[in-house]
Amino acid sequence: MIPAKTIDDILSAARVEEVIEDFVTLKRRGVNMMGLCPFHDEKTPSFTVSPAKGIYKCFGCGKSGTSVGFIMEHEHLSYPEALKYLANKYNITVEEKEVSPEDRAVMQLTDALYIVNNFAAEHFTKNLLETDEGKAVGLSYFKERGFRQHTLDQWQLGFAMSSGKAFTSLALEKQYNMEHLQKLGLSTQYESDFFKSRVIFPIHNLSGKIVAFAGRMLSKDKNQPKYLNSPESEIYNKRKILYGFYFAKTAIRKADECIVVEGYTDVLTLYQGGVENVVASSGTSFTVDQIRLIKRFTDNIKIIYDGDPAGIKAALRGLDLVLAENMDVRLVLLPKDEDPDSFFKKSGQDAFTKYLDENAKDFIDFKTTLLLAEAGNDPIKRSHVLRDIVSSIALIPDAIKRAMYVKQTSSKMEIEEAILIAEVEKDLPEIKKGTATTIS
Ligand code: CTP
Ligand code: MN
Repeated sequence: MIPAKTIDDILSAARVEEVIEDFVTLKRRGVNMMGLCPFHDEKTPSFTVSPAKGIYKCFGCGKSGTSVGFIMEHEHLSYPEALKYLANKYNITVEEKEVSPEDRAVMQLTDALYIVNNFAAEHFTKNLLETDEGKAVGLSYFKERGFRQHTLDQWQLGFAMSSGKAFTSLALEKQYNMEHLQKLGLSTQYESDFFKSRVIFPIHNLSGKIVAFAGRMLSKDKNQPKYLNSPESEIYNKRKILYGFYFAKTAIRKADECIVVEGYTDVLTLYQGGVENVVASSGTSFTVDQIRLIKRFTDNIKIIYDGDPAGIKAALRGLDLVLAENMDVRLVLLPKDEDPDSFFKKSGQDAFTKYLDENAKDFIDFKTTLLLAEAGNDPIKRSHVLRDIVSSIALIPDAIKRAMYVKQTSSKMEIEEAILIAEVEKDLPEIKKGTATTIS
């Protein structure tokens, strides 16, 4: 808890124009100041700051607020986090009350774990860029895949040596704690290196701290997993992380859309090619936590599936979740045997974006098409498809959207709308029963 007196100090110190000028170039116009809005794309300034009133307002997108509000919005922070940010800027000491010894211990442990991961990341990038083995094996691999130096640096890509001990020995020599190294999965229970002969992708959390690593093997050894991932730890909860989110968040907000792909390299290729609002689910299906994370930035999700229909049905299962969260989700299936990385490289940004625009389907349409193609003309299978679709539609919280999907499905499956409405109605949660599923 931040004491009220401290909050007053922070609010009176934080001049709105000073706070905003760290992010936006402002020019004086009479009593106000103006600049390009950081919350939407614009070529002529409509973002206005009033030092006298202590507020900002954008006449383009309508966003407005105080200095604290600006920091919350721009840096995606909670109210207390934004206050602490400002306290730091103005050298105001925040003496938080009631931090228990347990809280303090947890904070100290997580801080220590971040420091260890940072050390590991630096070690892996040094391997990649400065050792003979790293350059010959890792760097040449990344270059062959088309990643530029700037991309390697920005994403802190690295390399784990083949020796199997180098990292752990160095870490111990530098006084890092074996318990921490093992907690993070960087060292094994036998005190050797977990990642060996792999290129390394650090995984960042929302504020850019490294919480885990993924290592891709470079040999064709069928007995090893292609990717190895750090285990979960105090700082890494797989279900809450999307690969690339830290780098993508500004672009997601600007584009008002989040593109979701499956793989690490898909994210890197798209990002490097100018499609920056992209994150990866890292090969697993979506979780509610990941969807809620995206929802803080946009309601629009576009999910790109590799062109291999076998994997898609499994992926669809998790997606009912997105409907229940009232997000607008669109899905795109890539041409056969392509993934976003390969397809982007072949087609270039413009053709890629055009393909997405032309082939994105809403969830219900996508699912119906996919399942119907499988069911063919078998009436029993078709009725199962219908049940499946009905239960998805019933999950949509918004009655108008539900009604539109009923209409669409009715024409696509050649089923009378009235029957569909009755079926959806049965599946609705008790409190929504009786709310409209029709549009006249
Ligand atoms: N994945 C994983 N563990 C594996 C295989 C896959 O965690 N053993 C996850 C990774 O996040 C990977 C994603 O699933 O990026 C997609 O897998 P895949 O398509 O096989 O890999 P790509 O990302 O396409 O990698 P590459 O292009 O390097 O082959
Ligand atoms: Mn790939």
